[in-house]
Amino acid sequence: MPPQITRLVYLTLAIVAVYFLARGFLVPASFGQYGWYRGNALKEIAALPIRYAGRAACAECHEEAAERLAKGSHQGLSCEACHGPGAAHAEDPAEAAPKPENSRFCLRCHEFNLSRPAKFPQVEADDHFPDQKCAECHAPHSPMQAPEDASKRNAKPVKK
Ligand code: HEC
Ligand code: HEC
Ligand code: HEC
Ligand code: HEC
Repeated sequence: MPPQITRLVYLTLAIVAVYFLARGFLVPASFGQYGWYRGNALKEIAALPIRYAGRAACAECHEEAAERLAKGSHQGLSCEACHGPGAAHAEDPAEAAPKPENSRFCLRCHEFNLSRPAKFPQVEADDHFPDQKCAECHAPHSPMQAPEDASKRNAKPVKK
């Protein structure tokens, strides 16, 4: 056999050997335990602190808000979709209550965007009372209604 072929065979074997050696070091131990991913990832994710309590938990103490929400067009939303994570407060109400972070956060869902379904209620933020808080005219838990608290109402509420 010509010597260059022998060398090529050795070289190929060496590459394959290095591959398996490196793989042994680099692949995490739990890889493949359940499938094509790291089995330990499940344990790590499960160990993360729980941040959301869920709508049912909020409703246990805030019946009025929950009932109102269930009747209006926001009935499909979770409390925490607007309020933000509230597990710590639900566990111990003395902990700060989760509150929507700014007065126009509603635009996260309602700002006009061509990629949204056309029948989804949307507004052009710059034309829809840009200097005011959404909650001055829309009761957040029942958005086509004016806020119950008159002091929070604008002169031109949606519906009295
Ligand atoms: C174990 C009972 C309990 C649970 C569960 C609970 N809360 Fe509360 N929450 C309270 C109490 C008590 C207060 C303070 C008194 C008040 O203003 O109603 C409060 C206050 C609040 C406030 C402030 C009210 C205000 O007028 O400033 C908000 C907002 C709120 N909670 C939202 C939530 C949300 C969202 C959840 C679910 C993630 C939740 N709460 C779960 C008992 C609870
Ligand atoms: C569409 C967003 C949205 C959803 C969904 C929502 N909230 Fe609110 N919530 C608000 C905003 C905004 C305020 C503050 C209103 C204000 O300042 O006038 C508020 C105020 C509150 C308050 C203070 C008292 C009051 O009624 O004004 C409580 C308590 C509360 N929410 C609980 C809940 C609970 C419980 C749920 C789920 C059943 C829920 N919210 C769902 C946006 C929301
Ligand atoms: C997490 C997304 C989300 C947030 C945040 C949110 N909404 Fe909505 N909103 C919805 C959905 C979903 C509907 C129901 C749309 C439908 O019926 O097709 C809706 C409906 C509405 C409607 C139309 C009601 C009707 O009957 O035509 C108004 C007005 C409205 N929201 C105002 C608000 C205001 C004001 C806020 C902030 C306090 C807010 N929304 C925050 C998702 C959201
Ligand atoms: C000065 C009062 C006022 C303020 C502030 C206000 N709105 Fe409105 N909004 C209205 C009125 C009135 C209507 C009903 C208009 C109509 O029927 O044509 C309306 C309608 C809507 C609708 C329904 C549109 C549709 O096509 O069904 C959405 C969504 C909405 N507003 C979201 C918001 C959001 C988000 C904010 C804050 C960024 C906000 N609004 C601030 C008065 C207000």
